[in-house]
Amino acid sequence: YVLGLDLGTSGLKGILVNKEGKIVDEASSEYPLLTPKRGHSEQDPTEWFRAAKEVMKAIVKSTPDVAENLDGISFSGQMHSLVLLDKDDQVLRNAILWNDVRTTEQCETITEKVDNLIDITKNKALEGFTLPKILWVKENEPEIFEQAALFLLPKDYLGFRLTGNKQMEYSDAAGTLLLDVEKRTWSKVIAETLDIPVSICPPLVESHGKIGTLDSELAQKLGFKKDIPVFSGGADNPSAAVGAGIVRPDQAMASIGTSGVFLSYEETGDKAYNGHLHYFNHVIPNAFYTMGVTLAAGSSLNWFKQTFAPNESFEELLSGVKDIKPGSDGLLFAPYISGERTPYTDSNIRGTFLGMDIAHTRDHFARAVLEGITFSLKDSYELMKKHSNKDFTQIVSVGGGAKNPDWLQMQADIFNAPVVTLETEQGPAMGSAMIAAVGAGWFEDFEACSEVFVQYKSEVKPNPEAVEKYEKVYENYKDVYPTIKELS
Ligand code: XUL
Repeated sequence: YVLGLDLGTSGLKGILVNKEGKIVDEASSEYPLLTPKRGHSEQDPTEWFRAAKEVMKAIVKSTPDVAENLDGISFSGQMHSLVLLDKDDQVLRNAILWNDVRTTEQCETITEKVDNLIDITKNKALEGFTLPKILWVKENEPEIFEQAALFLLPKDYLGFRLTGNKQMEYSDAAGTLLLDVEKRTWSKVIAETLDIPVSICPPLVESHGKIGTLDSELAQKLGFKKDIPVFSGGADNPSAAVGAGIVRPDQAMASIGTSGVFLSYEETGDKAYNGHLHYFNHVIPNAFYTMGVTLAAGSSLNWFKQTFAPNESFEELLSGVKDIKPGSDGLLFAPYISGERTPYTDSNIRGTFLGMDIAHTRDHFARAVLEGITFSLKDSYELMKKHSNKDFTQIVSVGGGAKNPDWLQMQADIFNAPVVTLETEQGPAMGSAMIAAVGAGWFEDFEACSEVFVQYKSEVKPNPEAVEKYEKVYENYKDVYPTIKELS
């Protein structure tokens, strides 16, 4: 077996996978999200360790032969969240999480002071990233910053607690805004410009690199009966991509959860998309990925349901959308209800319904919501096309968007590409198990692992008539943002 641990924002999930890529056991444990102030979002890192122990204990209990047959553990983790350790490896303050938005000022400082930020990091300074959080601590809690000997990201802190070794791998390091993404080294220029000691940056390894073995005392307590190698792991988004089989440049992933992600594999590290898309190191050695984010994807649908059909299930709410024609008879929805990340990086913009007609029914509105979310993801795809001629032969749909057959058809028609879904969907956890499988030497590389671990259901093909219609509607959709921006 291999064990993949996904350290998420609300909890930690572990999956135990066998050599055929089948999930034989799983367990999870939750931890609280702390919001001490408006806009602040924190977590106690020791809770992640507690949850990991609980998950491993549960798995050893329900699958006893894992005690002798575990070939490796690895991780996927929430990105960007800052863990600060002192010289004795003690956590200095609660972790400041990726969804914490206290750092607008620090982002402005970074943008002003670091001339070639996008050349080096391939990304713009955004509140979620780690560097602005480090600066915030430096400016607002100097007594804590003075004691900081090292920073880690969540899954690396967990790796440290499990093995005693401190390190970070490239896919998560890329999300700090301190990594020279193409050269794969910490950027001394950025650190020096902002007066941050580069010594707080941990050693860098490959995602499937071994960081150590599970601490023997802990292993014994949990019931393991052999040495267990622990591999570094990956950031949650590229781990989810690997788990969805995105191991080649001609595939993309459209993930619709609370937020939406459109992600594609990149062979080279020399692009930047002017910072409009995220551009990070992949968990696959020497590969990269591009990602656009729709802030309110599933949450737009959720808002719509809560507001207009709180007592219905999603199935009931969406049961009529198939009877409405593509384009919802002129009704258009822009899903900017909590601002928008890609392509506008505008946290102040808000959404809209446009073109309401006396003949429109609730089914029109429901369909328009699904279409609007998909158009927003198409914006990311269009940027990939525009800047690097991307043309995907297959799009893997995951999350809520993969559950509804009518929405899948809309995705195929709006993206104008065949869409597939996964036979078993496990999100980033599957990617972390695959990292462990490659690290343990079960497979030569991620492509070989993906052939065994990732299976798709049948393909949904675009319908040429709907494609044509959506091309026109998408042109209108693109005009919505500048129009409402002017009004707001
Ligand atoms: C990516 C991001 C989120 C977190 C969620 O930039 O901030 O997707 O990785 O865990």
